[in-house]
Amino acid sequence: MDRKTFMKDVYSKYWIKERKAMGFIQYDRNLCNYICKNVPTGSKLLEVAIGTGYPIADFLQKTGYEIYGVDISSDLIEECGRLNPNIKCEVGDAENLYYTDNSFDCVYCFHSTWYFPNLNVVIDEMLRVARSGGVVIFDIENLNNKKIAEGYRKRVLESAGARRAIRVVKNFINRIFCVERCLSGVLLCMKRQRPQTAFTSTLATAILF
Ligand SMILES: C[S@@+](CC[C@H](N)C(=O)[O-])C[C@H]1O[C@@H](n2cnc3c(N)ncnc32)[C@H](O)[C@@H]1O
Repeated sequence: MDRKTFMKDVYSKYWIKERKAMGFIQYDRNLCNYICKNVPTGSKLLEVAIGTGYPIADFLQKTGYEIYGVDISSDLIEECGRLNPNIKCEVGDAENLYYTDNSFDCVYCFHSTWYFPNLNVVIDEMLRVARSGGVVIFDIENLNNKKIAEGYRKRVLESAGARRAIRVVKNFINRIFCVERCLSGVLLCMKRQRPQTAFTSTLATAILF
């Protein structure tokens, strides 16, 4: 099964429940605050890989932004439309966005870049649909962070056999005792220039959470 099929058919079922259980964590709040500080209210925003839209797109829509969203999973898009009908969401591939050039004031993508087979193509697409002077914001995993490195090791080493069983038990215990989830990402913010190839020195910000 290729990665996109896995995301559509398998991961989406897990993510609907997982996102709800995860809640509106401090990491998400930091991301929302960053957008609120840097993008004027009322702006037109696109969330790439929006999932169910909860909590980030939902919060931003209720704060006064016009929110569009795209995700590869029809199950997640259906749930997104059910949770917040004011979000204009549709099924689509981040590597081939069907919006026209210059459509959005801000294009963002959170918790997702590490799932794309070709991140460079997605970044090109995000830049293309952002208007000139608009911003493109996304997070990437910080493998220097202890928690992230540990999570990565678990995914790679504890994904089969007895190790997988141990991992399932550990996750269950964590859930019961509400062990705090600690994420760490690097947030990148680019300012879109024209022509697209000239998005020179656009790494405006890098923030460690
Ligand atoms: C960890 S979830 C994050 C969802 C959402 N951004 C959030 O913060 O809750 C990753 C998302 O990436 C989506 N995704 C993965 N590959 C994709 C692709 N090629 N195009 C669009 N969405 C994709 C998945 O369906 C899933 O909703």
